[in-house]
Amino acid sequence: MSSFFANHPYIQEAIKLEQTHTDRRKFHSSMESVLLKMGQDKEFMSNVIERNIKDKGWLQFDWSDYNIPFFYVYETDDFIIKIHLFPAGPLGKNHYAAHAIHHHNNYILTTNAFFGSGYESMLFEKDVKVDEATMKGNLKVNKHFHQKEWNPSRTDSWEPHIVFLPEHFSATILIWSPDVKRKTDALRNSSLLKPFKKELRHLIYRLGIGDKIGMAREKTYQYYVEGKEVKAIDEESYFSPSKSANGSEQKQYAMQMLFFFLQKSGYGSTELLSSLKTDSDTPAYFQPWLDMYLSGETIPEVLHRHELNIPKKSFTREDIIAACS
Ligand SMILES: [Fe+2]
Repeated sequence: MSSFFANHPYIQEAIKLEQTHTDRRKFHSSMESVLLKMGQDKEFMSNVIERNIKDKGWLQFDWSDYNIPFFYVYETDDFIIKIHLFPAGPLGKNHYAAHAIHHHNNYILTTNAFFGSGYESMLFEKDVKVDEATMKGNLKVNKHFHQKEWNPSRTDSWEPHIVFLPEHFSATILIWSPDVKRKTDALRNSSLLKPFKKELRHLIYRLGIGDKIGMAREKTYQYYVEGKEVKAIDEESYFSPSKSANGSEQKQYAMQMLFFFLQKSGYGSTELLSSLKTDSDTPAYFQPWLDMYLSGETIPEVLHRHELNIPKKSFTREDIIAACS
């Protein structure tokens, strides 16, 4: 489905910038203006929605607690552009962590907060030491900001960071890429990569390339605060309950958020979405939300709901500041 946007001027510009800037941080800086243009362009956003409803990979995506509800924008071997949705916290809870403190291994992320209030965030120093006996980590806050003050913002590879619950429902358009430009020959010659060719998005999303071409990978931790201490938890054990939570509750939660966004933003259209009503590829759990959308009924806002997989279930900005000072 990447061919959908292949000739779009923004995508052409992104592809050219990727080829021009071997230095991936320069590539990301150069992409800021493109992400800003995309976020302001209603027609482009409507095309994004169209691309997704015509894409079986999105239409039949197996939403679980692990996934931030999203729309695909464009994917190449070198970068991926997506839209992520962030529900607001319950009233007065916007100083609560939305997720654990984490990093994205060798991926750089540039984010344009184009819709809603945006969120508050912190970046931490990269060189985190974890005492494996106590699982205590020594995180230090490097930058504390709100997306209103720094946009587009950047998260470097290996850089721990945290997102707090936004004041209001928010959407971001973001680009990911590995921090080193891909060596085309290495990729072409890697037989391990061949089975993934059809599903590039799975290849590039969450470190696939690095792992398959044998880049060293250390144990990956997520971090949270307990008492006055930062604690580390192995990423796989942290994520496994949320990855396996993929039933109808999760599907409804994702649908409500996606359709709330479509209605509030106006990026979809009745004309576009009505095709889903009769499309045999449309999963049944779309129908109640489609009906509400198509009849103009107000789709209620969905709030951030889940507790984190940590002993105390949540932690706050103040907990982090106390534990990291
Ligand atoms: Fe992140």
